[in-house]
This record gives sequence, structure tokens and C-alpha cells, in this order.
Amino acid sequence: MNIILTGFMGTGKTLVGKELAKGLKMSYLDTDKLIENREKAKICRIFQEKGEDYFRRLETKIIKEVSSLDRCVISTGGGAILKKENLAALKRKGVIICLSANPKVILERTRKSQNRPLLKSKDPKSAVEDLLSQRRSFYEKADFEVDTSELTTSEVVERIVDFLRKKSGNNQG
Ligand code: S3P
Repeated sequence: MNIILTGFMGTGKTLVGKELAKGLKMSYLDTDKLIENREKAKICRIFQEKGEDYFRRLETKIIKEVSSLDRCVISTGGGAILKKENLAALKRKGVIICLSANPKVILERTRKSQNRPLLKSKDPKSAVEDLLSQRRSFYEKADFEVDTSELTTSEVVERIVDFLRKKSGNNQG
């Protein structure tokens, strides 16, 4: 089984994913990092030079690959599960955990990032609010959600581990 982290930019997928993998002695993968390694370019440059559609196609290809692995914690880019095909692939062997945060926290956490092309806007507040409202129904498809706005990384990890423990208890009858 894999553990998939989804959720909006700035909700803590990378930090939480790394700590979760360490705690559960699982491998850690980040689809954005895999894309960057394959393209030998940062996400913002891929968007700039090749466009979002190109990035999304690559994202789907990478997701197909990582979905066949086992015992991995996989952080995915915030837009990955918007595509039905990606969500289906990730779900096949994975439990989907969505991290969320309120818009104010998201803005604070992403403010200095140079690598978030979708938030490079004159009005990042509206960009965050618009994207959040477009995406809410997709993020709601996750098996479990943690609002990370007021929590430390360790607290988020604890909640996820707790959920997984209860879930595996239920599965064993
Ligand atoms: C995106 C989120 C980014 C990255 C790309 C697109 C999105 O990942 O995949 O910039 O559509 O929300 P993070 O969520 O890790 O920032």
C-alpha cells in the first residue's frame, strides 16, 4: 500500500510526507521532484517554456509510474488529482490523504516561493481563493483530510498515523 498526499500548494505535503515516510519506514517520493529531475528544469521553467499542458501530461506519466510501486509515501502536486485518470491510478494501491489550510496560511507559506507558477499573479490572494474554490470538490474525494493551518508537522503526521492505524484495525475486522 502507498500513502498519497494531496492538497493545495502550501499545505505541507513535502514536509509532512518526508516525516511520515521516516516514521513509518517507507520510501518517500515527490512527483514534482521526479518531474524536475526528468526535465532537468524547475517547475516554473517547465511552465514558462513548455506550458501547463506539457507539465500535466508529464505529471500523469509520472503518476502512472509511481502508482505501481508499493510502501511509498508519495507527495503529489496540488493539481494532480484534478485529472480523473490520476486519481484512479493513485487510488489503486494507495490511501489518499488531503492536507488543507486556510487561505491566509497558504498565502503566508507560499509568499516567497519562486517555484509556484500558478500563484505568480498581481493578486495572489484572489488566485488562491479562486483555485481553492475550483478544487474543493476534488480534494473532498480523499480518504482523510487534515487541516494543517494550526498544526506542527509532527502533529499532522500523528493524525495521519492515527487514521491509518484505525483504518487497518477496521480492515482486519
Ligand atoms: C500545482 C502545484 C505545485 C506544482 C505545480 C502545479 C497546482 O505543487 O505541481 O506548480 O496545480 O496546484 P505543490 O502543490 O507541491 O506546490
